[in-house]
Amino acid sequence: MTKARDLHPFDVIVNESIAEGVQRMVCRTPVARLLEPGQFVQLAVPGDGSHVLRIPLSFASANAKDERLELVYAVVGEGTRRLAAMRVGDASTLVGPCGNGWTLPRESGRALLVAGGVGLPPIVACAEMLAQANVGFDVIVGAQTAGKHCNELLDRLRGMQLNQACDCGRNVIVTTDDGSLGMRGFTTQAMENMLAEHTYAQVYTCGPDVMMSRVAQLAQQAHAACQASLERMMGCGFGACSCCNVALVSGGYALCCKDGPVFNAEEVLWQR
Ligand SMILES: Cc1cc2nc3c(=O)[nH]c(=O)nc-3n(C[C@H](O)[C@H](O)[C@H](O)COP(=O)(O)OP(=O)(O)OC[C@H]3O[C@@H](n4cnc5c(N)ncnc54)[C@H](O)[C@@H]3O)c2cc1C
Ligand code: FES
Repeated sequence: MTKARDLHPFDVIVNESIAEGVQRMVCRTPVARLLEPGQFVQLAVPGDGSHVLRIPLSFASANAKDERLELVYAVVGEGTRRLAAMRVGDASTLVGPCGNGWTLPRESGRALLVAGGVGLPPIVACAEMLAQANVGFDVIVGAQTAGKHCNELLDRLRGMQLNQACDCGRNVIVTTDDGSLGMRGFTTQAMENMLAEHTYAQVYTCGPDVMMSRVAQLAQQAHAACQASLERMMGCGFGACSCCNVALVSGGYALCCKDGPVFNAEEVLWQR
C-alpha cells in the first residue's frame, strides 16, 4: 500500500560532482524506509527565503536499513545550484513519498529500460526493482557527451549482470549524441536496434519528453507495454495548484505530482 506523504528531516552525508553538471547527494532521512521505486521527494534548500518552492527529485536508491537516500541531479538553476552547495552535515527537510512509482510487468518476458540524461536515477531504481523480482532486462542509457555520463551508475547497472537468476543487465548500451562514448546517436536509435533483435514485454523510460514520446511510439509498434516517468514544473507537489498538467489521450488532464510521475505511456497525449 502506498505510504502517506509527510515532512521528514534529512542531513547530507555525501554531495559530490559525478559528471559534468551532475551531482550525487546521499542523505540520511526516515523517508528512505517508505519510498517505492519511481516515486519522488521534494526538498527544501535552506538559505534563501525568497525561494519557497521545493525541488522535486526522483531517487536512484533508497536503503531502509540505514535510512540512506541517493539522489542524482543536474545543476540547472538557482535551486539546484544551492542544493549543490550544501555540505556534509547540513540539514533541511523534504516531503515524501510523493506520487506513484513503477509497477512490475503484467506479462512475463524481458524488459527494456531507456534513460536519457538525468532521467537515469529512477531507471536505476527500476532496474533494482526488476533485479529483485528476477525480471530480466536490458538498459539503454544516453547522454549528449561522454563527460555527462554518470559512470558510477552505469557500473552499478553492469554489476546487476551478477544476478544470474534473471540475467538482468545482459546488455547495458551506452549512447552519446557526439559519439564520444559508446554508440553515436540517440537512445531511440539504439532502441530500434534492440527491437530488431529481441522481444520485450515491457518498456520503462525516463528522460526528455521528446525522447520518451518516440520510445512510447516504438514500444507500441513492438506491442510492448510502456511506463514513462514524466517531469513537469511543480508548485505544490500534491494536487492543489494544477501547474503540472499532463494531457491525456482520453481528453482532459492528469496531474504529474499526484497521478504520476509514472504513467502508462499509451494514456499520455505526446507532442509529436
Ligand atoms: C517528479 C520529478 C522528478 C525529477 N527528478 C529529477 C532527478 O532525479 N534529477 C534531476 O536532475 N532533475 C529531476 N527533476 C527536475 C528538477 O526538479 C529540476 O531540474 C529542478 O527543480 C530545477 O530547479 P532549479 O531551481 O535549479 O532551476 P530553475 O531555475 O527553477 O529552472 C532551471 C531550468 O530547469 C527547468 N525546470 C525547473 N523545474 C523543472 C521541473 N520540475 N521539471 C523539468 N524542468 C524543470 C526550467 O524550465 C529551467 O529551464 C525532476 C522533476 C520532477 C517533476
Ligand atoms: S504541482 Fe501542484 S498540482 Fe501538481
